[in-house]
Amino acid sequence: MEMTLDGKTILVTGAARRVGRMLALACAQAGADVVLHYGNSGPEAASVQKEIRAVGRQAWLLPSDLSNPESASSLIQQTRQFSPILHGLVNSAAIFEPLTFQATTLQAWESHLSINLTAPFLLSQAFATQLPEGETGRIVNILDWRALRPGTDHFPYTISKAALAAMTKSLAAALAPRIKVNGLALGAILPPADDPSAEERVIRQVPAGRWAGAGEVEQALLFLLAGPAYITGEIIHIDGGRHLV
Ligand SMILES: NC(=O)c1ccc[n+]([C@@H]2O[C@H](COP(=O)([O-])OP(=O)(O)OC[C@H]3O[C@@H](n4cnc5c(N)ncnc54)[C@H](OP(=O)(O)O)[C@@H]3O)[C@@H](O)[C@H]2O)c1
Repeated sequence: MEMTLDGKTILVTGAARRVGRMLALACAQAGADVVLHYGNSGPEAASVQKEIRAVGRQAWLLPSDLSNPESASSLIQQTRQFSPILHGLVNSAAIFEPLTFQATTLQAWESHLSINLTAPFLLSQAFATQLPEGETGRIVNILDWRALRPGTDHFPYTISKAALAAMTKSLAAALAPRIKVNGLALGAILPPADDPSAEERVIRQVPAGRWAGAGEVEQALLFLLAGPAYITGEIIHIDGGRHLV
């Protein structure tokens, strides 16, 4: 089966850097035009736009602060200036703070929930609303292995991703049959930008014994965006077995 995104327009949130950038480029390489959402990383987003244009696809920049529910609510509507329809939504933007339960302030709790959970909720709702009768769409939520195996580290982040995993399944049922909703539960893809020492430490807990290759993440995304349409409500771990140990 050939997996192509030719003729599709996809919105990727947090697309300027790191994993989001990887996902946006994967969409373009598979033939999609891409709306690149970003928060503060304008220059990096412009550079991704250039890379996408170089492979012959269209790319548009869309800044927005997803901690603000009004901005999140209006984001999909704003994509209309670029493309009349969005066929795909990849919810990747997130925050990830190393907080224990006791160290989590109400403010940290609320930021994690608003960016990592409320924004995908509002975006999914607007995405479903904009999809015209007769069109089909796909939503991919970027999760974490911790979502289905919550521990004690990164407490508000883990809870937000666990709720996003639950929302993935709930929306898969609510939006069937027109919109497929799936999740990618990532593991060791890229070390946290603010903790390069994690590179070695993290790997000791990964059965695969290595970090993921970019191509592996890209293939998994493409499978959920362009693969079998009978798959919905699924959460694929791409974590080298981290959730098993
Ligand atoms: N890296 C990994 O190995 C790994 C492992 C498991 C799961 N994940 C998941 O994969 C996704 C991407 O991970 P990452 O490591 O690339 O994350 P990251 O480096 O922290 O980047 C996340 C992006 O989210 C955007 N963002 C954060 N707060 C925002 C806000 N208020 N408004 C708008 N945008 C906002 C940022 O955009 P700007 O830079 O433009 O502000 C940033 O580029 C996340 O969902 C994460 O949970 C990653």
